[in-house]
Amino acid sequence: MSAICDGRVVVVTGAGRGLGRAHALAFAAQGARVVVNDLGVGLDGTPGADSPAAQVVAEIRAAGGEAVAHGGDIATTEGARSLIAAAVETYGRLDTLVNNAGFLRDRMLVNLDEDDWDAVLRVHLKGHFLPLKHAAAHWRSEAKAGRTPVARIVNTSSGAGLLGSLGQGNYSAAKAGIVGLTLVAAAELARYGVQVNAIAPAARTRMTERTFAETMAAPTAGFDAMAPENVSPLVVWLGSAASEGVTGRVFETEGGRVTVMEGWRAGPSADKGARWDPDEVGDTVRKLLARAESPGAVYGA
Ligand SMILES: NC(=O)c1ccc[n+]([C@@H]2O[C@H](COP(=O)([O-])OP(=O)(O)OC[C@H]3O[C@@H](n4cnc5c(N)ncnc54)[C@H](O)[C@@H]3O)[C@@H](O)[C@H]2O)c1
Repeated sequence: MSAICDGRVVVVTGAGRGLGRAHALAFAAQGARVVVNDLGVGLDGTPGADSPAAQVVAEIRAAGGEAVAHGGDIATTEGARSLIAAAVETYGRLDTLVNNAGFLRDRMLVNLDEDDWDAVLRVHLKGHFLPLKHAAAHWRSEAKAGRTPVARIVNTSSGAGLLGSLGQGNYSAAKAGIVGLTLVAAAELARYGVQVNAIAPAARTRMTERTFAETMAAPTAGFDAMAPENVSPLVVWLGSAASEGVTGRVFETEGGRVTVMEGWRAGPSADKGARWDPDEVGDTVRKLLARAESPGAVYGA
């Protein structure tokens, strides 16, 4: 039986553990050759002993698949450039990029240091932009050479970026930024044969096991709804040729559930046709709000 990623070459960032590892193994199980990136950092981004990417490559090879490791920092130009080059130089092509790497530095905003703001914005937002930029440049050259690819990018946002999350101002801002990046990339890159979507996952990984210890506990029997492997089938499908026509979308996914997230759109509106007075605009805004849908609750509020 043919697998849905036969012949495809897939790059997954932060694939040494957690969700990225599950995605890499799932792509390989569906016939893809995989570049497994991981810098091997701690939960807060501090340097770790070594990259766990080689271990995931060994797992893929042991199961009969093909993979190579890349240990670079995806939030640097050299790390992103060499990551995309690793796919093209090793396997002669690139079909799918999954942006997944990241870490947390949670603090309430009044206590959030500038360094913790910068580090989290850098790893998530710049760490999505740079691999995306280098992959897009490769696909643009392919398209211009008459070889328009069937290319896919899957970005990783979060419920924190969609609704906000207490104590995660830096992370929520970065993950909301990833949604904006996804929308623009989908619109700009369509002409080169590239589809770009984002997921907002939830799963038990080292990133969440402390925060959600009780809900994340593995069941002793039955379906383990919080296993990271539950998120990967959607990522594999979005990263395959089978998702033709799906782009610029955001999906929440956890356990056995997939939800299409419906984003900002114009709600109740009023137009005076002239400049408002502050009092008058205030009265109008209150009337509009009475007719508008309430936003979802901020996580943790
Ligand atoms: N686990 C969840 O419930 C959840 C929820 C929403 C969003 N996410 C997002 O999913 C993604 C994966 O998270 P996870 O839970 O698997 O976390 P994780 O800590 O298990 O895995 C993240 C991996 O990224 C790697 N990494 C960090 N910085 C890197 C860099 N600069 N270059 C290369 N690799 C780097 C780490 O070494 C680590 O192996 C993250 O973007 C996270 O924000 C996770």
